[in-house]
Amino acid sequence: MDAQFGTTTESGAGGAVRLAARDITVGYGGQTVIDGLDVAIPPGVVTTIIGPNGCGKSTLLRTLTRLLKPARGAVVLDGEDIARLRTRDVAKKLGLLPQAPVAPEGLTVSDLVARGRHPHQSWLRQWSSDDADIVEKALAMTGVSELAQRPIDSLSGGQRQRVWISMTLAQGTDLLLLDEPTTYLDLAHAIDVLDLVDDLHESGCTVVMVLHDLNLATRYSDHLIVMRAGSILAQGTPREVITAELLEEAFGLRAKVIDDPVGDRPLIVPIGRTHVRLDP
Ligand SMILES: Nc1ncnc2c1ncn2[C@@H]1O[C@H](COP(=O)(O)OP(=O)(O)O)[C@@H](O)[C@H]1O
Ligand SMILES: [Mg+2]
Repeated sequence: MDAQFGTTTESGAGGAVRLAARDITVGYGGQTVIDGLDVAIPPGVVTTIIGPNGCGKSTLLRTLTRLLKPARGAVVLDGEDIARLRTRDVAKKLGLLPQAPVAPEGLTVSDLVARGRHPHQSWLRQWSSDDADIVEKALAMTGVSELAQRPIDSLSGGQRQRVWISMTLAQGTDLLLLDEPTTYLDLAHAIDVLDLVDDLHESGCTVVMVLHDLNLATRYSDHLIVMRAGSILAQGTPREVITAELLEEAFGLRAKVIDDPVGDRPLIVPIGRTHVRLDP
């Protein structure tokens, strides 16, 4: 992939940790959601945060990207306390796709994706043909080039989601944080987006995602972080983490864990109350 979308420098697997939270406590108003959490994002790999609804996944992602300020502790980005960095400098280093992004009314797809270039512009360095090329490439990568002139509010949920991913890519960072990037997507389009994440990883990006679908998380991640009630319950490779016991403990889910017939990962087969033959 093109260097504009970030290639490996010192951030390759085994390199220095780029992003970490140290003993962070975060909440909203008086309510604490995360209390004294430590986490280091491994460089050059795809990390996925999983956990039940409301356990604090988005809160953690917002804190790691400086949208939320921790009441205690610090987030360290490339060796610096993120609270001390300028917004523009944070945006040059990391791209965030929030869980439910909202576009200004009437904005077209290409205008929105062009906003991904804002951190790179200044009074001295204005819009250039390089920026236009990067925007075009970002549109093509998520398959939305043909929608470029459409207003965002005229798109389907799935198209919109791909446009937001495109904007995040246009930022040109090699550290991407994606909060439920497959929301609104049918399974085929979800796979498309995750294949794209895989390509970004291959090109040297460090990716942190939140995913709802546990089997997609297992299939597409090198590292899983399992959260429950604002804490990290377990982390490691999918093989290390995904066990029937863990699923019961984290989600209260009864499941069998088998080998994925089309991969070398574990596959989760949930057990409901009906339609189950436990001893085939
Ligand atoms: N903007 C907010 N204001 C107040 N409470 C919030 C806000 N966002 C999230 N919360 C609360 O924080 C907790 C964690 O939420 P969140 O991080 O969104 O969970 P997850 O992403 O794992 O579903 C939940 O109890 C949620 O209701
Ligand atoms: Mg969330």
